[in-house]
Amino acid sequence: MIDFINKLPKAELHLHIEGTFEPELMFEIAKRNNIKIPFQSVDEIKMAYQFNCLQDFLDIYYQGANVLVKEQDFYDLTFSYLQKCALQNVRHTEIMFDPQTHTERGIAFETVIKGISRACVDAKEKLNVSSLLIMSYLRHLSEEDALKTLQQSLPYKELITAIGLDSSEKGNPPSKFKNVFQASVDQGYIPLAHAGEEGSSEYVWEAIDLLKIIRIDHGNNALQDPILVKEIIKRDFALTLCPLSNISLQVVDDLKDHPLKKMMELGLKVTVNSDDPAYFGGQINQNFIEVQKALDLSKEDLYELAKNSFQYSLLNENMKQEYLQELRTFYKEN
Ligand code: HPA
Ligand code: ZN
Repeated sequence: MIDFINKLPKAELHLHIEGTFEPELMFEIAKRNNIKIPFQSVDEIKMAYQFNCLQDFLDIYYQGANVLVKEQDFYDLTFSYLQKCALQNVRHTEIMFDPQTHTERGIAFETVIKGISRACVDAKEKLNVSSLLIMSYLRHLSEEDALKTLQQSLPYKELITAIGLDSSEKGNPPSKFKNVFQASVDQGYIPLAHAGEEGSSEYVWEAIDLLKIIRIDHGNNALQDPILVKEIIKRDFALTLCPLSNISLQVVDDLKDHPLKKMMELGLKVTVNSDDPAYFGGQINQNFIEVQKALDLSKEDLYELAKNSFQYSLLNENMKQEYLQELRTFYKEN
């Protein structure tokens, strides 16, 4: 099974680039930028990664991002993640980045986007991994701040496919961002959002109805409302699930209780993703391996999950079909 998972061609659809920041690289970049971090060693960093909830994690995650200053830093962070993709047979990835985490600290939008997108171009050429970018607004900040970010993104619009909504969910409902989502769609960005991770099913309804999203990040709490489940199936929206993230942030108590299999049985389209792999104890394949074991998933289930990852990606139809063909060939032979 492990070998099958490792070789399975797949796409990652829920990944925060700032959440891929491994301690070793963080130390290296902190050193070359002369920035102090509140940890003495890699072990100390790993010890700090014990979270009771989303906010505990976010406090440490934003701290880690503070050492990213130069375009090369964003390049190195991104390329390092894409190398891990290549090793895991992640053929395509849709990368979220949080511009406000950086512009708030005085880093130019241009520095962030140029570093990240240059790594994506190089990865396609050198590693044969394709990628696209999702600009995520931070929901703990104001809508006005998100509108400012939208403006800053416009000169680089061609490099960005979609928008997302992340950070502290509770108390920051989708309705707070209705206007900036509409303005972003008017600019050609595809709307996506985190919803129903810690927030209730009501937040998922809002994300669908008010923000008009076409794919749901997490969405665990959609299960609270059977009418919502029906609606998601009817509209054919996928949920990008992150099993190990859910355990780390105590959204789910035990992997054996993870809703992934139940969702599949209900007819929901779901995918497996790593969210913030450096913080949550595993890359995408580790997520597949652990959830397969906990829920006793069959090869057919895993094939279905991989199929969903391409089918519900934001790629054009031609590229989707190419990857799906590659996946079918693999499945037939394994
Ligand atoms: N939820 C909300 N915000 C985030 C996450 C998450 O899982 N990861 C990075 N920012
Ligand atoms: Zn996330």
